[in-house]
Amino acid sequence: FVKKLESIGQTAPNENIKKEFLNKEVSSINKLFTRFLKNRKKVIDWEKIKPPPNEMVLNYKDLPQISHERTSELASKLAVLKLNGGLGTTMGCTGPKSVIEVRSEKTFLDLTVQQIKEMNEKYNIKVPLVLMNSFNTHQETGKIIQKYKYSDVKIHSFNQSRFPRILKDSLMPVPDKLFGNDSEWYPPGHGDVFFALQNSGLLETLLNEGKEYLFISNVDNLGAVVDFNILNTMDKEKCEYIMEVTNKTRADVKGGTLIEYEGKAKLLEIAQVPSNKVEEFKSIKKFKIFNTNNIWVNLKAIDRVLKENLLDDMDIIINPKVADGKSIIQLEIAAGAAIEFFNNARGVNVPRSRFLPVKSTSDLFIVQSNLYSLEDGVLVMNKNRPFNTVPLVKLGDLFKKVSDYQARIKGIPDILELDQLTVSGDVTFGSDMVLKGTVIIVAPAGNRIDLPQGAEFENKVVSGNLRI
Ligand code: UTP
Repeated sequence: FVKKLESIGQTAPNENIKKEFLNKEVSSINKLFTRFLKNRKKVIDWEKIKPPPNEMVLNYKDLPQISHERTSELASKLAVLKLNGGLGTTMGCTGPKSVIEVRSEKTFLDLTVQQIKEMNEKYNIKVPLVLMNSFNTHQETGKIIQKYKYSDVKIHSFNQSRFPRILKDSLMPVPDKLFGNDSEWYPPGHGDVFFALQNSGLLETLLNEGKEYLFISNVDNLGAVVDFNILNTMDKEKCEYIMEVTNKTRADVKGGTLIEYEGKAKLLEIAQVPSNKVEEFKSIKKFKIFNTNNIWVNLKAIDRVLKENLLDDMDIIINPKVADGKSIIQLEIAAGAAIEFFNNARGVNVPRSRFLPVKSTSDLFIVQSNLYSLEDGVLVMNKNRPFNTVPLVKLGDLFKKVSDYQARIKGIPDILELDQLTVSGDVTFGSDMVLKGTVIIVAPAGNRIDLPQGAEFENKVVSGNLRI
């Protein structure tokens, strides 16, 4: 494996890149691979898994509220990091997911910058934004953030690692060349953030600037805004790591959960669960909460655990895929898996409003609708919604790509009173529609349903053929 990596290194376009790859990257790649070989037969001991005790997961409602002055004091020690290594492929987009337009022609990145700008102005503070890009996203992100060059928000960006995909059968690296085909490489998961922060030198820079806390979240989670009450608790209680969790619903049974394992907080991901325990893992009764990936970490503690090589033991998720017709595996690590290595780590059970990810066009439909309004770059739920749950929306496969979704929907319907919407088949939406209660629209194969402009449906099943 290492010999092959070394031969890949020989194809570097210049000496500096060759040295960097052979002296640094080969060893990180090999470390992860060796650990995978050593542990791949190991399974988690199900009997040792316990729900987290009450003192391990604080209730957001119980956190003390803080004053304006205290906010400014804490803010001077804070940096906000967005995980921006992922592509928008599941939504049919080729570039970084963060450049998808979400609302008012603004992308995830624009909204993030706007959120921080407004927060900085409100409290007269200067919290910087940090973007962790991957080789897949850095170029396009770089172009987009050019427009913020003269903005008041300071933006740092750095690249995470680039690991070779591994052939499933022979366990050898896929690529022959360092820069041949990008699809032979991958970013090794958001847990790479700790290593990449250190390797890029940014960890040191932030510490030298007097920063103590880092708030990490997924760039597509529009609910992940800075919360000073959580930061205050972290500071007061001397927690090195806080994971925001939220109550599980039927829609998120696959999300990683926080457990107590051998006396410590630990993230349990579905990929680590033995196949005969998957149903138990998904149960809302036994595992009540899941990880939102909004994570608060003490920067000095990151430095310490890295120096002590503790993060080298983070759980590895094996992600099997087919790429260019070959069966491959990717070895990935999750930021949440670092929780067990920090002192006094806690969960905070936050309201659902702090978890508003956009994983699909169905999620996009919700965040673009009148269920939310945009205030200072933050999505706020419409006060006129009679209940504060988010409707369950499932748009069918023909809506999967953003371009198809846009072509099929003339205007997002009024969904203030919607509970559930399921759409299947060849369906288009006219403008100014209203949907209430449970609405199911099914166009069987060979049929098409064009929902007319201004149509209103309440607790209704529409099926068959309807063309206008
Ligand atoms: P994920 O790929 O882990 O999540 O990306 P997902 O596909 O959106 O869905 P779940 O939550 O796993 O089910 C979560 C965030 O982490 C970033 C992505 O850009 C996204 O913001 N990410 C992911 C990285 O920055 N680097 C990676 O290697 C992987």
